[in-house]
Amino acid sequence: MRTRWRAFFAELREHRPVFVTPAFTVVTTFADVREVLSLERVFSVRAFGPRLEAALGGPFMLSRDATPVNWREKGLMQAMLRPEDAEAVRELAGRAADEALDAAAQRGRIEAVHELFRHVALRVCAGYFGIPGPTPARLGAWTRAIIVDGFANYLGDPDLRAAGEQAGADLLDYLRGVLKERRAAIAAAEGPPPQDIVARLIRTRLPDELGVDDDRLIVNLAGLPLGWVESGPGAMAEAVEQLLLRPGVLAEAVEAAKEPDPSRFDPYVWEALRFSPFFKLLPRVCEQDHVLAAGTPRQTRIPAGTFVLAAPCSAMFDAGAVESPEEFRVARPHHERLFFGMGHHACLGADPAAAVVCEVVRRLLRRGVASLPSPEGDPVRLAHTFPDSYQLALRTEAR
Ligand code: HEM
Repeated sequence: MRTRWRAFFAELREHRPVFVTPAFTVVTTFADVREVLSLERVFSVRAFGPRLEAALGGPFMLSRDATPVNWREKGLMQAMLRPEDAEAVRELAGRAADEALDAAAQRGRIEAVHELFRHVALRVCAGYFGIPGPTPARLGAWTRAIIVDGFANYLGDPDLRAAGEQAGADLLDYLRGVLKERRAAIAAAEGPPPQDIVARLIRTRLPDELGVDDDRLIVNLAGLPLGWVESGPGAMAEAVEQLLLRPGVLAEAVEAAKEPDPSRFDPYVWEALRFSPFFKLLPRVCEQDHVLAAGTPRQTRIPAGTFVLAAPCSAMFDAGAVESPEEFRVARPHHERLFFGMGHHACLGADPAAAVVCEVVRRLLRRGVASLPSPEGDPVRLAHTFPDSYQLALRTEAR
């Protein structure tokens, strides 16, 4: 499942589309993945919710299903992360990417994960969220410890869990200070109000009956770097790797990347991500007996307590839902793309994240990028998932 997942899931879709094992059940078709992700009361996030809450010291939208906390706080944060921000965030990310690429150009190569992808992700935290961290490196170390050691600690290693929880406590303390300082600065400032997310939250008058006090604001602010700093660079690495594997597609994408309007380029990134989405499996726990795919040949009774893995990476290759899925086609309808999840827990940051991921890949391709020979050029991933190093060759030409 970790290494040869595309072939494995193709076999499952053909022979065991709902794959029941004593330990877990894997759901592989588009229709069944949609069913699981749409029924939050049946298939809950209890599989990882408690680990996330341990790091954040309390509930968070992604740790709760169909609760008032989830409903109101996701609504509040959706109002803060406006879809119309995407243009300005893209600009910010493009500038940060060019800076990183300029710095690396003389060397003719770049370690893309830290020098480019995470560099841009942390700049977005500073410039768009208003969360620069004590330093970018410290903020990046916290997200890594919370997400990689805490959240993705499937085997429950106690030392890693403790490291994740300590990082969570440090991040929350830091954000408490940010809130205090920014409140004072915003109250004293004249001129147009700053538009980062911290400033917007501070300026928003929330009625007391919503119960969104400072503790709740801080948890939701923590969710911004936590949702972004690991998954954004993760998606960038997957997209670049998939494009580099296809020289014909890469040549077309490079031409599209040169156009001033990115709209012809972005679908190359989306299609690359269909071939390798960053979140390949979304874990859920079945809370009540449920008949999945009722009335179809796949009909399966899922008993309460079953650990269920919904596989968007497989669903996007289901020929029953996606035309000629093995072909790299840029003109696919958007609803066939599941890399931002769907349903109750669909990604909060999908609009700005989409713009930034595409823009970083676009700026990289414009410079002329190539793979280095294996093993030096192989991306290195922690826990088979989180990119930690990816050496790429760059043309040394100026922009
Ligand atoms: C601005 C950047 C981002 C932010 C602030 C963010 C934040 C979040 C949050 C808070 C949730 C939980 C929503 C809920 O509980 O309803 C979520 C879900 C999700 N996000 Fe993001 N995210 C960002 C970028 C990304 C990227 C780059 C990807 C991958 C391409 C991604 C993929 C997902 C997926 C698959 C889910 C669904 C998880 C599930 O259902 O189990 N996100 N995101």
